[in-house]
Amino acid sequence: MADKKQDVPTIIRKHKSLKKNLVAILLDIQAQHNYLSPESLRVVADALRMPLIDVLGVATFYRAFSLTPRGEHTCLVCMGTACHVRGGPKILEEFERRLEIEPGQTTKDGQVTLETVACLGCCAIGPVVVVDGEYHGHATIRRVGKILEKYYKPSPSDSPAS
Ligand code: FES
Repeated sequence: MADKKQDVPTIIRKHKSLKKNLVAILLDIQAQHNYLSPESLRVVADALRMPLIDVLGVATFYRAFSLTPRGEHTCLVCMGTACHVRGGPKILEEFERRLEIEPGQTTKDGQVTLETVACLGCCAIGPVVVVDGEYHGHATIRRVGKILEKYYKPSPSDSPAS
């Protein structure tokens, strides 16, 4: 990755090493490192003088946090009722087939994490897929390839099915 990540102590200092900034600190680490490693949680707990179990409690409470490495890109496929009845499951299947992973997993090359979500609050444009915060409404099976192409550059030996 070309952009520079801040190390965990720098992120903590940026938030003034305050307990009340715990969620902001974890969000920042998650954003820059793609996940919260056990080591980073230990560093946060020490710096904020908090029991590790409390930091872990917050890290496991919010869905925004991941304790396992995530891909550079996050692909969310909506499985809420409105998207479901308009073909959301078929679209998910197409992502699974092309990426060769299931929801909750990351491609072998670490590029894409696939996830499902209950409702993204924009049912009128369903089925909806969101990649890195960018909404793709009225998604169809045929558009899945085009959506992926924008973010995903598989290595030649690791090409997803076309
Ligand atoms: S059900 Fe998909 S956006 Fe609401």
